[in-house]
Amino acid sequence: MPKQASSSTLEKQLRAKIEARSARVGVIGLGYVGLPLALLFSEEKFPVTGFDVDAQKVATLNQGGSYIYRIAPTDIRAAQARGFSATADYAHLAEMDAIILCVPTPLTEAHEPDLSYITATAEAIAPHLRAGQLVVLESTTYPGTTEEVLVPILEKKNRGGLKAARNGVTDENAFFVVFSPEREDPGNDTVARRDIPKVVGGLDARASEVAEALYRAIFNSVVLVSSPAVAEMTKLLENIYRCVNIALVNELKLLSLRMGLDIWEVIEAAKTKPFGFQPFYPGPGLGGHCIPIDPFYLSWKAKQWDFDTRFIELAGEINSAMPHHVVAAVAQALSQRQKSLQGAGILILGVAYKRDIDDLRESPALTIIELLRKEGAQVRYHDPYFRFVGRGRKYNLQMECAPLTELGQYDCVVIVTDHSDYDYARIVREAQLVVDTRNATKGIDSPKIVRC
Ligand SMILES: NC(=O)c1ccc[n+]([C@@H]2O[C@H](COP(=O)([O-])OP(=O)(O)OC[C@H]3O[C@@H](n4cnc5c(N)ncnc54)[C@H](O)[C@@H]3O)[C@@H](O)[C@H]2O)c1
Repeated sequence: MPKQASSSTLEKQLRAKIEARSARVGVIGLGYVGLPLALLFSEEKFPVTGFDVDAQKVATLNQGGSYIYRIAPTDIRAAQARGFSATADYAHLAEMDAIILCVPTPLTEAHEPDLSYITATAEAIAPHLRAGQLVVLESTTYPGTTEEVLVPILEKKNRGGLKAARNGVTDENAFFVVFSPEREDPGNDTVARRDIPKVVGGLDARASEVAEALYRAIFNSVVLVSSPAVAEMTKLLENIYRCVNIALVNELKLLSLRMGLDIWEVIEAAKTKPFGFQPFYPGPGLGGHCIPIDPFYLSWKAKQWDFDTRFIELAGEINSAMPHHVVAAVAQALSQRQKSLQGAGILILGVAYKRDIDDLRESPALTIIELLRKEGAQVRYHDPYFRFVGRGRKYNLQMECAPLTELGQYDCVVIVTDHSDYDYARIVREAQLVVDTRNATKGIDSPKIVRC
């Protein structure tokens, strides 16, 4: 941790504004991360402006609507009453005291980090930067992005010759920069957002301290680390830990199936150990914007250090083979009933990447649908969160949600996402054959069920 005393006038001014709740907070990227964050600051009485390039999102919010299932329009309207508004006009950034970037960080076709959203946002912010502003990057990325990519653009492209506050930079000329990773777990209501500790790594101690003051307003605990790169790596460690452990149970599930053991029963028993074990669960493959993507940010960066991240590569290999395993299990189950995938009617239950959420990104269901179609199956889907599945980053399915009736008309019903609204006993009763990738039919005994 840089030990420099925090005596900067700009820092003191910004901290005073934060304490008085008069600091204006600008959140760039009003998606699954940015919009809830903007609302949290608004709830704590900060004047908040949301920025997004998506004109439809901006219009929806300004009309008091919402496009995220778990955020009600009433939440948006309550924020509006407290002064929240959305805009696509970056000129308003000059009025902000804190600017928080929550833009996407996907992979390119070549499976490499796509930092174009971060660089485009940095280019757009720079002309409006002024001394004393705090800039926070929250998007998940490889260690070094804040210092090697974001800061150089902000310093080069601003109009006032401003520099990021580092030890030695004079106050009048400085803006503050930190990296602070988002730690949301969509659909998990067991931990209040406020109770999730917030990691902050500033370019220098002053930057860390203003960011700490800001985040303390909305989080009960802020964890300061010594640099943006440590904060960037912290987020990747958390996600790689999940990715590798999920791959481990996925592989053990495949072995258990072969050995005639129920991996779910094994995990239930193992998790009774009061130390040294955390349960992870197998499934049809990884989904979401984080776990399937973020680890590869690190493996890409590691190559610059002539280093192979073997755990990440192996986990990626195992996890991305899971949708193929599901399709093979469906084919085998049909074949045991003298049927073939070719021409079979198949209903996919659940296309969201996990239970009870409205997020399709990287969902294994999409890969499974595509693989089944390639084999000539007639595929439909049902998901209470999606009436229609159109074009995604990798898919263009153009499918409408099927009704959850006449399940007997399908040769096979495949449970890909175990939404809690489904009545699994009824599904098993009515379907001809059920392939269950999530142990959703636990406790139901029927020869129609194939657990895979
Ligand atoms: N979704 C999660 O659960 C989660 C959890 C932890 C971390 N993250 C990370 O947070 C970041 C954002 O993820 P998300 O899920 O909110 O993504 P998202 O796609 O839901 O939202 C991103 C938003 O940014 C907007 N945008 C894109 N370019 C822009 C620009 N130049 N200026 C303004 N707005 C722009 C998009 O229109 C979109 O509304 C990613 O780096 C992700 O890895 C996400």
